Amino acid sequence: MAEVINFANFSLSNAKKQAPKVADEGEDNQSPMPLSLTTKRFREVDPAAALASARHEFGEHGGVNMSIEASATFTVMEAETMRRLFAGELGPDRDYFIYSRHFNPTVLNLGRQMAALEGTEAAYCTASGMSAITAVLLQLVGAGGHIVASQCLYGGTHALMSRFLVRACGITTTFVNIDNIDEVRSAIRAGETNVLYVETMSNPTLVVADIPALAAVAREKGVKLVVDNTFTPMVVSPARLGADVVVHSVSKFISGGADIIAGAICGPASLVNSMMDLQEGALMLTGPTMNAKVAFEISERLPHLALRMKEHSTCAMAYATSMKRLGLKVIYPGLPDHPHHSLLSSIGNPEYGYGGMLCLDMGTEERANKLMQHLQNVTQFGLMAVSLGYYETLMSCSGSSTSSEMPPEERAKAGISPGLIRMSVGYSGTLEQRWGQFERALALVQQLPKNLNPEVFLIFNGSALG
Ligand SMILES: Cc1ncc(COP(=O)(O)O)c(C=O)c1O
Repeated sequence: MAEVINFANFSLSNAKKQAPKVADEGEDNQSPMPLSLTTKRFREVDPAAALASARHEFGEHGGVNMSIEASATFTVMEAETMRRLFAGELGPDRDYFIYSRHFNPTVLNLGRQMAALEGTEAAYCTASGMSAITAVLLQLVGAGGHIVASQCLYGGTHALMSRFLVRACGITTTFVNIDNIDEVRSAIRAGETNVLYVETMSNPTLVVADIPALAAVAREKGVKLVVDNTFTPMVVSPARLGADVVVHSVSKFISGGADIIAGAICGPASLVNSMMDLQEGALMLTGPTMNAKVAFEISERLPHLALRMKEHSTCAMAYATSMKRLGLKVIYPGLPDHPHHSLLSSIGNPEYGYGGMLCLDMGTEERANKLMQHLQNVTQFGLMAVSLGYYETLMSCSGSSTSSEMPPEERAKAGISPGLIRMSVGYSGTLEQRWGQFERALALVQQLPKNLNPEVFLIFNGSALG
């Protein structure tokens, strides 16, 4: 139970002397106040167990949910305190806040949960995945610096590195095949390269990064390994495998509702603190701040992320297996013939499966588009939309959508064929119902006489919609 507080006498000065109302069974929480931005470094290997061991923040009135600190700015009781705040003598570690573009208590609590999930010392959340990635790169790589990155990356990240960072601050990137560790090693230039950047499971081609091997190269060469874990929260824990920094588009599986754009940076406290520095910090000064109300929403969804990821993985595995059985060209790391199947089996967290993303190569863009249209408009299997991590299945043809920023030759290098459909597999409905919908749509693409309206075809054949 939360301790009872006499709210009649509650004042700001009281609040600042009072221990925050927290529940935490960890032995590192002897102090009434958090001593720094950091949580204890979570020893639990299972991310769900680590998340459950993170301190539970109660609401202001003893509510089971934390309160939302909706203030943009914070008062002080004595003018001198303001000077000490700006001098860095007082800060969020002692429950003092200045302004919500800097630290906000609700966003900070979500950061603690994210740090627990990813097993890092600290974390802070941002307004989008792209702002998290951009801020980390700007903080770790100076003007004129160099990045070595996987050639298989989300189109937006690829464009950020290949175009924007070059134009804006002379940061250049060498894209490499991360399966070839020698190529990675030799692309890193002594005294010039600052960051090695990969996605745990690449968007959209589902290439899996050998994080322990890449972390060893990064350590050997003195560069930071930054890993985008957007496709595989819970499934893989990059920091526990040696990554220095983990970034997320929280807009995807972590949110799960396709209703929020958000991001997160998980890493050492020194990095998070440096990014919030009033004079030099990339987050503080460029300001991609997460709103406290958004932080509250996401915080409420984290406890069931493990359950959701298991369902996504189960459904994706079932569809991939059935598609394979039909002779379709399917890419899914859970299938034994995927080139990284045994790698993911060895680095993945037990019981979370192989993730909720699969790719189906229909050969041509025309066939891919036809299938997606039937899947959405006729059999209601899923929705034609970009993004991922929703409870409904989302489908997009990557070459002409989320990877269209990449030049055709780069797309070819990354293995993005024109007929590639990326599916973020949802868990609504039953497997039997959904598979029936898939088979009916596929039959339409394979058998439909030219120019026949598929809805008419279904009525003539007596097939039920949906
Ligand atoms: C792997 C990956 N990283 C980062 C992003 C960017 O995230 P956001 O849209 O939240 O800015 C995306 C978006 O699709 C993504 O797929």
